[in-house]
Amino acid sequence: ALVVRHRVRTSAKWARAMAIIKDFEERCGTPIGKLKQVADAMTVEMHAGLASEGGSKLKMLISYVDNLPTGNEKGLFYALDLGGTNFRVLRVQLGGKDGGIVSQEFAEVSIPQDLMVGTSDELFDYIAAELSKFVAQEGPEFQLPPGRQRELGFTFSFPVMQSSIDSGTLIKWTKGFAIDDAVGQDVVAELTRALERQGLDMRVSALVNDTVGTLAGGRYSNKDVVAAVILGTGTNAAYVECAHAIPKWHGLLPKSGEMVINMEWGNFRSSHLTLTEYDYSLDAESLNPGEQVFEKIISGMYLGEIVRRVLCRIAEEVSLFGDTVPPKLKVPFVLRTPHMSAMHHDTSSDLKVVGDKLRDILEIPNSSLKERKLVVQLCDIVAARGARLAAAGILGILKKLGRETFKDGQNHRTVIALDGGLYEHYTEYSKCLESTIAELLGEKVSESIVIEHSNDGSGIGAALLAASHSQYLGVDEP
Ligand code: GLC
Repeated sequence: ALVVRHRVRTSAKWARAMAIIKDFEERCGTPIGKLKQVADAMTVEMHAGLASEGGSKLKMLISYVDNLPTGNEKGLFYALDLGGTNFRVLRVQLGGKDGGIVSQEFAEVSIPQDLMVGTSDELFDYIAAELSKFVAQEGPEFQLPPGRQRELGFTFSFPVMQSSIDSGTLIKWTKGFAIDDAVGQDVVAELTRALERQGLDMRVSALVNDTVGTLAGGRYSNKDVVAAVILGTGTNAAYVECAHAIPKWHGLLPKSGEMVINMEWGNFRSSHLTLTEYDYSLDAESLNPGEQVFEKIISGMYLGEIVRRVLCRIAEEVSLFGDTVPPKLKVPFVLRTPHMSAMHHDTSSDLKVVGDKLRDILEIPNSSLKERKLVVQLCDIVAARGARLAAAGILGILKKLGRETFKDGQNHRTVIALDGGLYEHYTEYSKCLESTIAELLGEKVSESIVIEHSNDGSGIGAALLAASHSQYLGVDEP
């Protein structure tokens, strides 16, 4: 009798667990019709954000980049890429017309957690010190003409209200950074002061968002690049807009007739987004409640955390991993997206990787195969929703550009440069993103639209923009 009762209890438990998952899956559902609504809403918000300052949740920030790299950029330039858990410093020697990138070197440094929530000076001093060490290692293959000041492209991947190509104030932090005294400050001035404190003589000649840097880097190697999307710790997009389609721009019309717009699409929000109770609680308990809602269901910083929240709920309700909820499962952000990705990609028949992660990360020692399968299923639901919504965002941009339908006789290619750790390393995610784009566009159009991985385009892009905005002549005459 005892055995039977136990069986009944476990089967009831599994039925309940499955019901919770099924309910979650339904709420996360992103059928094509819904994705099209999201894309349309994105296009509408793009118009609104371009019309007036504060006109939309989409800030549609003017980048002051009205010319993208041509290939004529020349000389030694540095780049500094700050925006996630790591920052990178980069040195490139650009060869000018037909010369390409002659040599390049980079270093990557992780940012200590406490600096992400400390003071502005502490963060910038740390960065300036690392940059200074890197500059000191400059070898003879990098040539700086005598008497010339070193120049830097600064990729700062947060929303910034720019007032020129080389200045701009921080609107707010995103992605786990919270340094109050930096908000509202000119980040170039902050960096420049820190460089001076290091005794490093260097001029910041371009301030760019990572999406803008990626767009510039992408364009350098491919003329058909018109937009860039980052899927990493955070998510965002930038694209080339017609200057006269930006009503809120009151400056002179640029000669090129174009202006790169940093959308800050992470802050997009629409009633068509499929939000669940887990998303609401994640948002409410985050550093920036009510902000970056699109980012919180799409990007690398949050996907693992959503999975953890659902697992925790199931553990509480049906004692999934034993009678008490494993304490580790209750710790916010312990389950990182790279762990989730590793579990999702586990192809072994006993889901060994899943078992290992559950043991090592969540301290759940003896998980059953059934439990492991449930975990994989959850990863799949959360990743697919994120990837499909990102695809809808891309369709929104294509619509704004008028490139979402097939036009006879007009066979231009449209290339979108993608970068970011999530896109690069989470294969199931990027596969789903790409197949959803194809599904949304239909066969005929999707042939002319290409997604291209732009590997660390943002650092190179910043260096290229530093060249074209150099105080000296950073480009060959065309
Ligand atoms: C966040 C930032 C944005 C950046 C994106 C990707 O959304 O606000 O500026 O481009 O992350 O790094």
